[in-house]
Amino acid sequence: MAGMMVFCTRSLLSRRSSSPALRHPFVSLLSRQISSEADSIVDRLKSSGLLRTQGLIGGTWTDAYDGKTLKVQNPATGDVIANVPCMGGRETIDAIGSASETFSSWSKLTAAERSKYLRKWYDLLIVHKEELGQLITLEQGKPLKEAIGEVSYGASFIEFFAEEAKRVYGDIIPATLPDRRLFVLKQPVGVVGVITPWNFPLAMITRKVGPALASGCTVVVKPSELTPLTCLAATELALQAGIPKGAINVVMGNAPEIGDALLESKQVRKITFTGSTATGKKLMAGAAGTVKRVSLELGGNAPCIIFDDADIDVAIKGAMAAKFRNSGQTCVCANRILVQEGIYEKFATAFSKAVQSMQVGNGFHEGVVQGPLINEAAVHKVEAFLEDAVSKGAKILVGGKRHSLGMTFYEPTVVTDVKNEMLISRDEVFAPVAPLLRFKTEEEAIHIANDTDAGLAAYIFTSSMQRSWRVSEALEYGLVGINEGIISTEVAPFGGVKQSGLGREGSKYGIDEYLEMKYICLGNLSN
Ligand code: SIN
Repeated sequence: MAGMMVFCTRSLLSRRSSSPALRHPFVSLLSRQISSEADSIVDRLKSSGLLRTQGLIGGTWTDAYDGKTLKVQNPATGDVIANVPCMGGRETIDAIGSASETFSSWSKLTAAERSKYLRKWYDLLIVHKEELGQLITLEQGKPLKEAIGEVSYGASFIEFFAEEAKRVYGDIIPATLPDRRLFVLKQPVGVVGVITPWNFPLAMITRKVGPALASGCTVVVKPSELTPLTCLAATELALQAGIPKGAINVVMGNAPEIGDALLESKQVRKITFTGSTATGKKLMAGAAGTVKRVSLELGGNAPCIIFDDADIDVAIKGAMAAKFRNSGQTCVCANRILVQEGIYEKFATAFSKAVQSMQVGNGFHEGVVQGPLINEAAVHKVEAFLEDAVSKGAKILVGGKRHSLGMTFYEPTVVTDVKNEMLISRDEVFAPVAPLLRFKTEEEAIHIANDTDAGLAAYIFTSSMQRSWRVSEALEYGLVGINEGIISTEVAPFGGVKQSGLGREGSKYGIDEYLEMKYICLGNLSN
């Protein structure tokens, strides 16, 4: 996932219309219409109390100590939705202090007590599903239906871990001497630093904070500076659910300073991060200074392999879902679509037709299934990738340029004759661009699929049960979808191998990331 730069300012609310495309009269008119719709949504969110625009330290909504702020912008219009504090090291140290103080009481609650708080938080997230979805669309750009889907997905981690809190079992080990008894106790690791990306403003937070709180840990969350509002709204609901002050703290702003404060603190015993592989490596290195635990969910380069024997309709539906979810901006999006030579042309034609039918636009508009990219840097990245691919022989079948809507809207794109050596196959595209690669044999497909440093998600489409197993076992990936394009769920372990990360999130395995194991030997029992 691309690293994003955010600047702190002292500026007041303002509109931005720097994109040349926005200067076109028709686009300006459309943009004004969209802006006024967005303004009324912001007003509604303000009156519901969910538009929080401060950080949270020890249960108190807080500005940056030096008064600096940063703008949160709507990627569909460039409008400023809100200003939030641009916090740094000092605020983070205080947030860690508050999390550490609260840890002593929160970790001592019974699992059932913690579970009740989490369950209440889940209920409130669901009650406010629509408003949270609107916030996600406003600050991230994904279509409203998809955004509301993210709220259900995000809330499911809180519900799941509310239940799982009660299932943190230890062990009794058969003793090696008659007068001893050996036990294994699971205890919370302590204060956790939670660093999350912009592509899932809610779900990536709940997938980490849910198991952390369930196990008895307290947290300092740093949401992406591009999308902090959803996190702040969800945190407001956590307070309303009665989760004690100090259990969840939120800071945002100067990412390097916040990151350093989290890494340097001896009180922070774990960092959990979702984002770019480059940042993940820095965090891993930085955590060495205090020997912290790390969970890393990093970039992917998902192959989606369509075999000759696949049901073509199932394959097209699955590949569309795997590629175009969140306009291609997920770590598990199909990055390379490998199609066997016998059906390559047929698949390319039918797939292109489906891609052409997708409606691009403002996520609040009915029928829109593709929103804008998160920012200009994302557009420049895809442009560079396509230029490289075309210069090396790839052909653009559909799309291939900015959408006529301007801003960061990009045309859903299909590229054929792509080779695994091209930039577009080596790195995450993170855009609605589907590169089609051709292969002859199963062995060749497996070789191409595994020829990458990443190893998060992979997809295969085939009617053969034998091939399903054979290829799944051979793929060097943490998740494999067979004849399915979207497989994420709170009940299954999510995480990658190789340079896609460490640890697993969600499922019964996810809570272990927040637990230490303690061996207790009870001796001299015969005395
Ligand atoms: C991600 O893109 O990092 C998460 C995607 C998912 O949870 O399905």
